[in-house]
Amino acid sequence: MKLSVIGCGYLGAVHAASMAELGHEVVGVDVDAAKIELLATGRTPFFEPGFEELLTTSLGSGRLRFGADLAEAAGCQIHFVCVGTPQKRGEYAADLQYVEAAIESLLGVLQPGELLVGKSTVPVGTAARLSELVVEKVPGAALAWNPEFLREGFAVQDTLHPDRLVYGIPQDETGAAAEALLDEVYAPIVAAGTPKVVTDYATAEMVKTAANSFLAMKISFINAMAELCEATGADVKQLADAIGYDDRIGRKFLNAGLGFGGGCLPKDIRAFMARAGELGADQALTFLREVDNINMRRRIRMVELAREVLDGSLLGKRVAVLGAAFKPESDDIRDSPALNVAAQLQLQGANVVLTDPAAIENCKRQWPQIDYADTAEEAAKGADAVLLLTEWKQFRELDPVAFGRVVRQKRVLDGRNALDRDKWEAAGWSYRALGRRHSS
Ligand code: UDX
Repeated sequence: MKLSVIGCGYLGAVHAASMAELGHEVVGVDVDAAKIELLATGRTPFFEPGFEELLTTSLGSGRLRFGADLAEAAGCQIHFVCVGTPQKRGEYAADLQYVEAAIESLLGVLQPGELLVGKSTVPVGTAARLSELVVEKVPGAALAWNPEFLREGFAVQDTLHPDRLVYGIPQDETGAAAEALLDEVYAPIVAAGTPKVVTDYATAEMVKTAANSFLAMKISFINAMAELCEATGADVKQLADAIGYDDRIGRKFLNAGLGFGGGCLPKDIRAFMARAGELGADQALTFLREVDNINMRRRIRMVELAREVLDGSLLGKRVAVLGAAFKPESDDIRDSPALNVAAQLQLQGANVVLTDPAAIENCKRQWPQIDYADTAEEAAKGADAVLLLTEWKQFRELDPVAFGRVVRQKRVLDGRNALDRDKWEAAGWSYRALGRRHSS
């Protein structure tokens, strides 16, 4: 099939290359000419494991190309809208200007029989509104909403092997045709027996925000337990293991620590609350405000813990920070808890030296006043304390004995509960973590 993908960020670029991998002829379009230039020459504008290889094969097959002009999308049977829906400045609500601009421009090339497919995360009600516009301007064309659940760091795998497909389709005679087209696009995924939920627009839109809210709630739940553990001397890691054995609860997303960040969970729960307010159902989601509060408190607590460990003052102290990305295997620093803590420490007088395997260039643009190092050892030279804030594998596997030789003081704060505490303590480190008892 001939497909267009509008918006080539994490979602769109990976979707475009993955659809070419499935055998389709795909054009990826983005208004950012520099990004298009990179992608067209097989280089990735962001760090995503496995993506560069996929991009190279897809470009090499001749089935994938990129362009900066939306006219390139003309003649495609399906147009995927993958643009961002960031949080509005000064408000909780999602900013839909990019989605609206993309649909508006697509209406110029759309032909009867073609399908527009929204993949961006939008407030419930958006698809129904946009569908009216599409049908009015191009009778015979249709709109479907097909949310994407990819995780950064696993974007390729999640796109090619999703755990479910959700189609929000028109509830009239055009719905069946839309479903058939989507089945054709995703034929190998459907054939693999992937669960498929075919539903109305509102449900499809809500599946995405409900899923992200649930994940955020799980993380904040365990972080609330961490606060209690800190107050009582209990151990949140063992607590998570013990409750996680109950498969109604499950151990996934119960890692206590600095909490969630990134380009999705924080803004999605806020946009969901804002939309609930508009719908007169704000009470239903007031718990998400608490989820957000618990999450933000972890960052403050981490700074306080660092101050406590550094004998009550951050002033002039050399602090090595390991990790800046919002999670490992990503260079994304959007609302990163790690970078937030590093910046707070620096602003409160510490001399922070930050290292991250992938995110340093992004950090330098946002926080030029922080010092950066290429390796953990370099960052930790002469440090009064080491903070692990993003649990990259290379940090988890540090040898505490050798690492102990470069620092000034063997104090480690594990912001992700990711280090082997016994090993670090055996090597003479004082170990502190969120939600766990102190070293004896
Ligand atoms: C998320 C959803 O998982 C994905 O389905 C959706 O499509 C987009 O949003 P992503 O933003 O890539 O994906 O990150 P995710 O893996 O969900 O992690 C989010 C944040 O939660 C990270 O900052 C991570 O460090 C944190 N986290 C995750 C925890 O603090 N504890 C956990 O147990 C799990």
